[in-house]
Amino acid sequence: MIRTLTTMALAGALLSACGDEDYDATALYEELQAANYQKNWSRPAKYNKLTALSKNSNHGDQGIIYYNDVVSDALQTSGFTKWPAGSIFVIDGYLEGKLNQTAVMEKRPSGWFFAAYDAEGYTKMSGEDAENLCTQCHGMYEENDYITSVPLP
Ligand code: HEC
Repeated sequence: MIRTLTTMALAGALLSACGDEDYDATALYEELQAANYQKNWSRPAKYNKLTALSKNSNHGDQGIIYYNDVVSDALQTSGFTKWPAGSIFVIDGYLEGKLNQTAVMEKRPSGWFFAAYDAEGYTKMSGEDAENLCTQCHGMYEENDYITSVPLP
C-alpha cells in the first residue's frame, strides 16, 4: 500500500514536471511515433498521399498532412472559431522523393506549439524560435486559426 502511494506520488511529480512550459519537442515527436500517426491518423483529402505542395511552402516539394482524433472529433461538429486544445497537425515534407522535414502544430491551452524535425527525428526548431518563422506564413491563415489545409468546422 505504502509502495503504491509512493509510486503514485512519484508519477504525480513527474506529470506536473511535464507542464506546458517545459514541454519538450522531443517528447512530442515520441508521442507522434508512439501513436503511429502515419498509419493511424486521418488526412485531409487534398493531402492524403504524397502531393505537390504550394510554391510558398517551406515544407518541401511534396507532402502528406495528418491530424489526430481531437481534430477529427471537432470536424464532426460545427461552430468552432479555434481548433480545440489537444489538436495536432503534422506535415511530412519531402524533397525529391525523400522525407526532408516533419513539422508539427500542437494546440495547447496557451496556444499553438510549433516544432520542426529532420528526417531522423532531431528537433530543428521548436517553441518561440519556430513560432517566429512558422507564423510568417501560418499567420496569414489567422481566420482559420493558423491552419491552412483543413477549414474550421
Ligand atoms: C513559407 C511559408 C511557410 C512556413 C515558413 C511554414 N509553413 Fe507550414 N505550411 C505552409 C503551407 C502553404 C502549408 C499547406 C501545405 C502546402 O501546400 O505546403 C503548410 C502546412 C503546414 C501544416 C499542416 C497543417 C496546415 O496548416 O495545413 C503544419 C502542421 C505546418 N505547416 C507546420 C509548420 C511549422 C511547425 C512551421 C515552422 C517550423 C511552418 N509550418 C512553417 C507554409 C509554411
